[in-house]
Amino acid sequence: MSFEDKSQRYLENGYALGRGYASSLRLNFQHHLLRELLGYSIHPDIVSNGNLPPNPHIADVGTGTGQWLIDVSHEIPSAQLDGFDISKDQFPSRAWLPSQISLDELDITKTIPSSLEGKYDVVHVQLFLCVVQKDGPMVILKNLSKMLKPGGFLQWVEYDPTSFKVVSPDPLLKQNANDQHVQIIRGPHGVATTWSSKLLSHFESVGFEQVTYNAYPVPTELYAPFMQCHLCAAEEVSFTAMKNDGPDAQGPVFRKLLAEVYKECQTGVTMAESPVVTVGRKSAV
Ligand SMILES: C[S@@+](CC[C@H](N)C(=O)[O-])C[C@H]1O[C@@H](n2cnc3c(N)ncnc32)[C@H](O)[C@@H]1O
Repeated sequence: MSFEDKSQRYLENGYALGRGYASSLRLNFQHHLLRELLGYSIHPDIVSNGNLPPNPHIADVGTGTGQWLIDVSHEIPSAQLDGFDISKDQFPSRAWLPSQISLDELDITKTIPSSLEGKYDVVHVQLFLCVVQKDGPMVILKNLSKMLKPGGFLQWVEYDPTSFKVVSPDPLLKQNANDQHVQIIRGPHGVATTWSSKLLSHFESVGFEQVTYNAYPVPTELYAPFMQCHLCAAEEVSFTAMKNDGPDAQGPVFRKLLAEVYKECQTGVTMAESPVVTVGRKSAV
């Protein structure tokens, strides 16, 4: 099984995840897990060297529910924080947000409006596995770079499917469903989602300087909540991007596998992984 057999809904709107309240809850939880794992919102290299002006302009592209911006509003109250997303469906109500946060629609794969060019000191992107298409992240990277001021920073926080590996507390435990699940995420021949492991060279080829790339291995006590997020996301993909036109269609068959994966997880079999953070600086000239 692979993700190759797409539903009509996916072919029309190009996004494999859901945007209802359960999806928003999953996204919020994922965000807070990542925040706990990294220990920062903005990489210390960006904030600690006097690199930012007193009132920095900061953008979060593909902001979803805007949680990252809300965290940053507490950490840098003087910042202007602009969130962008192709869809407004998961935006929280403007009425309850800190006044320095704005939210707007933007498709980062299309030409950037001139009003956004060279505007930001920091641009942040997080969790774009379902956004980057087969042609890779270069178009998106170039557009993100255009949004930065000369000398501005891009920070990209991403899952790295090449780091996904099934782990077990006891080699006698059954783990076939987990093995199959990881293979499906990696895609045919394990090549579908390798781009995030190559973000350092992608950043450099777009002209970013001082590029750093760090992997953050998930500690064992966070295996379970990270895995629960992956299972929820996989279930969303099964409803949104797969065909569900009968009991033998890809969606229901995949959900059966997810139920098996979860059964194995209850014995302690699960997935270990290392999300990655890539930071780069746009040339000052
Ligand atoms: C997995 S969510 C991550 C949300 C948020 N960054 C976070 O970490 O909680 C991916 C987000 O990218 C948005 N997105 C998808 N395609 C996009 C595009 N072409 N331009 C901008 N945003 C896009 C989706 O609507 C969704 O909100």
